[in-house]
Amino acid sequence: MSLPFNIAIDGHSSCGKSTIAKSIANKYGMRYIDTGAMYRAITLYCMRHDIINNQLVQSDKLFKSLNDVSIAFEFNTITGESETILNTENVEDLIRGIEVSDNVSIIAQIKQVRDKLIILQQDIGRSKNVVMDGRDIGTKVFPDAKLKLFVTARPEIRAKRRYDELTQKGNDVSFYEILKSLNSRDKHDISRAINPLLRAKDAVLIDNSDLSIKDQNILIENLINNKKS
Ligand code: DC
Repeated sequence: MSLPFNIAIDGHSSCGKSTIAKSIANKYGMRYIDTGAMYRAITLYCMRHDIINNQLVQSDKLFKSLNDVSIAFEFNTITGESETILNTENVEDLIRGIEVSDNVSIIAQIKQVRDKLIILQQDIGRSKNVVMDGRDIGTKVFPDAKLKLFVTARPEIRAKRRYDELTQKGNDVSFYEILKSLNSRDKHDISRAINPLLRAKDAVLIDNSDLSIKDQNILIENLINNKKS
């Protein structure tokens, strides 16, 4: 049964927001939108077009190029997951690497980039029945979402989860590099001037450092059931 409302999930990097969102989407037949993937795709575009170099952005070039960037999602029937399309290219794997991760918070703090993506996200949400994860979903994208979650976990636990995810896909990465990158992203996300990561007043806080996925699912199902009635 689909839900006649949107669910907003915000929180720190690698705290399992997407696992929660995918599981809600599967159970309730909702559309899942990973907004971090949108910021990552624009970052990849900027890296390829020399718009960002050594973490320095050529703003003029970026503003001129923004209209040429289109981002969409395509459902992969084999994996059962939605994948990110930059212009016509499937970039789902490319945007998860450490280089994009190291640059994305710089791109994500640029107002013109956020304005473009928020319009796109709000458009997608108009049909309702959308579960969206990010940093500003409950505060800016869907301030009226019926259910808002703010998810977090201790940094070492989050870094270990990202490390496992990347190594399982065959990437040769260092745990400490991942922890460093994650701490730096948290710092950027919390302290940026525009739409920083904030817990909306009406968001339910979930610290899943010591919570099993099963217990987390039960907790969230109860929250959704309360909103349905
Ligand atoms: O969720 P993620 O780690 O894939 O997000 C990548 C980056 O994008 C992260 O540094 C924060 C930024 N982001 C954002 O600023 N606003 C969002 N709604 C989603 C992600």
